[in-house]
Amino acid sequence: MQTTTTIEETRKLVKDWKRQGLTIGLVPTMGYLHEGHASLIARARKENDRVVVSVFVNPTQFGPNEDLEAYPRDFAHDCRLCEEQGADLVFHPEPEEMYQDACTYVNIRTLSDTLCGKSRPVHFSGVCTVVSKLFHIAAPDRAYFGEKDAQQLAIIKKMVKDLDFDLEVVGCPIIREADGLAKSSRNTYLNAQERQAALCLSRALQKGKALAKPGLDTKTLKNVIREEIEKEPLARIDYVETVDALTMQPVEAIDRPVLTAIAVYIGKTRLIDNFSYDPEVQA
Ligand code: PAJ
Repeated sequence: MQTTTTIEETRKLVKDWKRQGLTIGLVPTMGYLHEGHASLIARARKENDRVVVSVFVNPTQFGPNEDLEAYPRDFAHDCRLCEEQGADLVFHPEPEEMYQDACTYVNIRTLSDTLCGKSRPVHFSGVCTVVSKLFHIAAPDRAYFGEKDAQQLAIIKKMVKDLDFDLEVVGCPIIREADGLAKSSRNTYLNAQERQAALCLSRALQKGKALAKPGLDTKTLKNVIREEIEKEPLARIDYVETVDALTMQPVEAIDRPVLTAIAVYIGKTRLIDNFSYDPEVQA
């Protein structure tokens, strides 16, 4: 496995692979890798000749009062995990390498107005900008994203369509801890008591999922989820919302494929989780 820190050396390797007719799978990450990331790398390994993992804590997707400085980092551990999963290249640039004096950003409308985009106004512009750059640098045939960040996945798919990127976006299922908590690099912020309290997210979504059926009004669904979370004294709800799975706009009833997504503060740590429901498939 190789590692690179510059765009130029990464491009050189990628161009060489392309000349040989090899396919490339890209897994963009911010590092501090866990089994959720590993599942994306393993899937990319199965479906491509070469696998590139980017490890870059992207400053442009953090708001002014967010956790950019505190975001956990362990590059040696990340390299070991990438190697175990059979990655060929880890691209690990510094912010100066990626941005220098950049003043061009990729913005997506409407899909970013709801859910996390509403609470984190600059977030998806930063995500779309860095992911576009990574697509140009690694020139992948396929790029892998987790359903854990369901709005991000929907946004990247739409961006790829709108901007004619010549690649396939592959969505991968949420990987959870044995007790149901969705794996996240941010789980490391939780103390023992908060870790226990964090189970209210998956528990509430389980309750909601059991209730979901074609035609159900989403107010009822959201209330059940809210009530379950509100039983937990350490939890503070940022949002509980059910949206159209493609447009990310709120819906009043389950009359099409929907995403039910939540963001909850446990102490100072903001956690997200979700489930999808397609009335045609899951009824
Ligand atoms: P990061 O949070 O490191 O996540 C990288 C990828 O791993 C994302 O596609 C995310 O959805 C996926 N992932 C994280 N936890 C997961 C889990 N428990 N199960 C399945 N997949 C999981 O998302 C980002 O980084 C950044 O926004 C990025 C796309 C790299 C742009 O900077």
